Amino acid sequence: MDSGRADFDEFSNLVRSRRTSMIVDQTRPVPLDLIADLCGLATWAPNHKKTWPWRFAVFSGDGRATLGDTMADEMERTGFGDESKRTKTRTKYLRTPATLVVGCGPDDNEMLHIENRDAVAAGIQNILLGATALGLASFWSTPALTQPRAVLDLCEFGADDRIVGIIYLGWATQECAAPERPQLRVIHVAS
Ligand SMILES: Cc1cc2nc3c(=O)[nH]c(=O)nc-3n(C[C@H](O)[C@H](O)[C@H](O)COP(=O)(O)O)c2cc1C
Repeated sequence: MDSGRADFDEFSNLVRSRRTSMIVDQTRPVPLDLIADLCGLATWAPNHKKTWPWRFAVFSGDGRATLGDTMADEMERTGFGDESKRTKTRTKYLRTPATLVVGCGPDDNEMLHIENRDAVAAGIQNILLGATALGLASFWSTPALTQPRAVLDLCEFGADDRIVGIIYLGWATQECAAPERPQLRVIHVAS
């Protein structure tokens, strides 16, 4: 087999083995430098006009509760969700040893504003694949609020930044079944 095909098969296995999961060893911390390496992978995502829109903030230990409380307080301040949803938010980031908030910078140009989010989303996929290669479980979640003022401040993001994903990270303890994907359909027009 030629080495290009072998590389593709290896990459393909990595892509297919990535799962959205929080089944992790709660007692084993995820080293900060490893998370920084994953964030480094995100910066190799394609990015139109090289706007470098990604922002990263890692929460571990008591920081995770601070993130939850800050998010829940913002939900309260802005009237988002009911009391039970807010109470759940206060502790939800404790579910894995580390939580990575990934933000996205704005752009005055409407198309670049949209494309910034595309670049950050592509960067997040790099993070998830890198995490999978390391044996880390990862879970991409969308926060209740994408521009919660106090959370943006806590993360040291800009006031006009958006949160694209909150990524739960921890050492995987179990393989998870993959949700089936729909049958592939690729249109080919050759003339
Ligand atoms: C942009 C984005 C946001 C997501 N947000 C959530 C979320 O808030 N809650 C959740 O349970 N899953 C969330 N997911 C994960 C999907 O549910 C998951 O990818 C899907 O079930 C397929 O499972 P798999 O990733 O293991 O293949 C999100 C995925 C993406 C791409």
